[in-house]
Amino acid sequence: MRKSIVLITGVNGEIGHGLVRSLHKKGHENLIGIDLSTADDFVKERTLDCLIGDILDRNLLERINAQYEVESIYHMAALLSTRAEFSPVVAHEVNVDGTLNMLHLAMEQAKSRGKAVKFFFPSSIAVYGLPSLGEKSSAGPVKEDDYRHPQTMYGCNKLYCESLGDYYSHYFKRLSANDSKGLVDFRSIRFPGIISAHTLPAGGTSDYAPEMIHAAAKGEHYDCFVSSDARIPFMTMPDAIYAIELIMAAPQQNLSQIVYNVKAFNPSAGEFLSKVKDYYPKTDIDFIVNDSRQSIIDSWPEDVDDAKARSDWGWQATHDLDKAFSDYLIPEIRSRYE
Ligand code: SER
Repeated sequence: MRKSIVLITGVNGEIGHGLVRSLHKKGHENLIGIDLSTADDFVKERTLDCLIGDILDRNLLERINAQYEVESIYHMAALLSTRAEFSPVVAHEVNVDGTLNMLHLAMEQAKSRGKAVKFFFPSSIAVYGLPSLGEKSSAGPVKEDDYRHPQTMYGCNKLYCESLGDYYSHYFKRLSANDSKGLVDFRSIRFPGIISAHTLPAGGTSDYAPEMIHAAAKGEHYDCFVSSDARIPFMTMPDAIYAIELIMAAPQQNLSQIVYNVKAFNPSAGEFLSKVKDYYPKTDIDFIVNDSRQSIIDSWPEDVDDAKARSDWGWQATHDLDKAFSDYLIPEIRSRYE
């Protein structure tokens, strides 16, 4: 008998860490991670095994397919938006071909188990592209079907992979005699910027908010690369993980769409800085705008409409901006750095 496992790609990344923390706490003793680099002790202690390897390596995925029975896949591995702009072809390979490989693995597994494999895919507000600042401020909360004109390679990759997930779930090889419908149970969330007290993101464009608070806590100077009035939605890492748990636990018949917006709070960079200053009054942060990164933030919505996530699977953020600081970021960051 093959051992039944839960597979997490990009396990060393920010959400990977958060997921391992929470799935392990919930009693999952069968987590297998994949990442390009060796996992840290935190991850190693909470997983059955961490495979060092590339999701583009089909031999590695074939070995996993042969060795394990995969119940569900959390496919977190990706190049984020800023990094992807420097290496668009590599980003496309990792973000799109990598996702295709994981969907293929899910389909193979589901066929051999005769049972659906749940597949979680983190999408992003980067799939949206607002044409102008005027439209960004007048658009109001953006719905899932609006403004899907991404201006970044990362956003293009995420939007296309949402469609791939839909294809694998509902239309895979529809001309063949065998019905594959429903074998891959693809579920996706379009995340806003995520702020963790424990890790820093690498290569994203929403990184300025987490970088501000971590720099303040360490007493370091920080140059924020967007203007003080730049505004996009954010949420805390515990809320991001909570959202993943909710959507993965929801009965399939409750899900009226494959991808959902979620939201928690959407301060401007200046409002975020004022909040940081409430706790770290000596904070030394300047706004030194990088026009290119600013233009990416300008193309992302100010706010998203998450009514569907609320009605279909009971989404409700636990942290608004005040609680994010008072109940999560400040206590956890203080115990980390002080
Ligand atoms: N946080 C991501 C980034 O900045 C967006 O999903 O790239």
